[in-house]
Amino acid sequence: MSLKTIKLNDREIACQEDDSVLDALLRDNIDIPNNCRKGVCQSCMIRSLDNAPPAASQKGLTDVLQHQNYFLACLCYPEQDMTISLNKPKDFFTETTVIDKKLLNSDMLLLTLKCSTPLDYYAGQFVNLKRHDGLQRSYSIANNHLLNPDSLTFHIRKLKDGLFSEWAYQELAVGDTLDISDPQGLCYYLPNQLDQNLMLIGTGSGLAPLLGIISEALHQGHRGDIHLFHGSREIEGLYLIEEMQQLTQQYQNFYYTPCLSSETLANGFAKGRAHDVAMSNIPSLKDWRIYLCGHPDMVHQAKRQAFLKGSAIQNIYADAFHVGTASVK
Ligand SMILES: Cc1cc2nc3c(=O)[nH]c(=O)nc-3n(C[C@H](O)[C@H](O)[C@H](O)COP(=O)(O)OP(=O)(O)OC[C@H]3O[C@@H](n4cnc5c(N)ncnc54)[C@H](O)[C@@H]3O)c2cc1C
Ligand code: FES
Repeated sequence: MSLKTIKLNDREIACQEDDSVLDALLRDNIDIPNNCRKGVCQSCMIRSLDNAPPAASQKGLTDVLQHQNYFLACLCYPEQDMTISLNKPKDFFTETTVIDKKLLNSDMLLLTLKCSTPLDYYAGQFVNLKRHDGLQRSYSIANNHLLNPDSLTFHIRKLKDGLFSEWAYQELAVGDTLDISDPQGLCYYLPNQLDQNLMLIGTGSGLAPLLGIISEALHQGHRGDIHLFHGSREIEGLYLIEEMQQLTQQYQNFYYTPCLSSETLANGFAKGRAHDVAMSNIPSLKDWRIYLCGHPDMVHQAKRQAFLKGSAIQNIYADAFHVGTASVK
């Protein structure tokens, strides 16, 4: 493959061999949103105005978006010259208002947004939150639409020098508005097999989508066992411990194991990484449905372990929280 030219308005941008369109645009100082750079968050979605983009760059987009030649810049390695537009589809973002903001622990923000019209989403999906200057990041929805049709909750972990999370933690206030994208992601609950056992493993803010899934499953009258393993290095990294323990009292089929991988142990906590503890507790995962959310390494390792324990690949649902390290918008 040789050098390709990307036309954007009146500019011509060179795309080197092995460069994605995102690499080429960023190198040319074009201000384009991006986050995961792995085709997950969809924040880098742009549109081809001439040829159909390579099929691999449209992975996960709806049929309508594919038909309109939208594609993910981070997955697009052009096969020919392209003319592009950075405009998003009009209905991709909706305005919401911050109605509550509180801390779940010293680093974890619980943010509640109110939508002007109820959002149609599945428990476990994520949205991109967009600030007024265009900065956007992906966050998982932590509630379920059956109980709260017009409000959305998020667990946002404050990262040191993190552009969005520090701003949300320090500056975002009740009454402010934020734009949210349409819901995305395939790691969600469907009430189609109520007797199936569920295993949910999360690290850090990976509890957010799992909470949405658990809340919907219990609300739908899920009859199979539901096992939640939430892990962190230190106890300070866990949160909602009492709430989860109360849920085990309320529902006979709900089990909760908080896991700490550091040396210090407290009563009622399992020692080890959440996915190791989970796998050693359950002898076989044949016919189980598995949900994995949080750190990409955990998700990757747990997927493999679950498969080796007998789970079918199509029963493993995963969202790796890839955190960008050099993204500006
Ligand atoms: C599908 C999905 C779902 C997610 N769900 C959640 C969720 O529910 N809750 C949640 O908290 N997060 C979630 N994330 C992660 C989230 O999208 C953000 O990536 C995260 O909040 C960090 O964003 P930020 O703007 O605060 O940090 P960024 O500004 O993107 O920086 C990330 C880290 O990299 C460091 N960094 C930045 N630039 C550089 C550089 N040039 N050199 C070295 N280091 C650098 C920063 O200091 C920071 O620690 C999810 C991600 C995905 C893909
Ligand atoms: S999908 Fe391209 S940056 Fe996330």
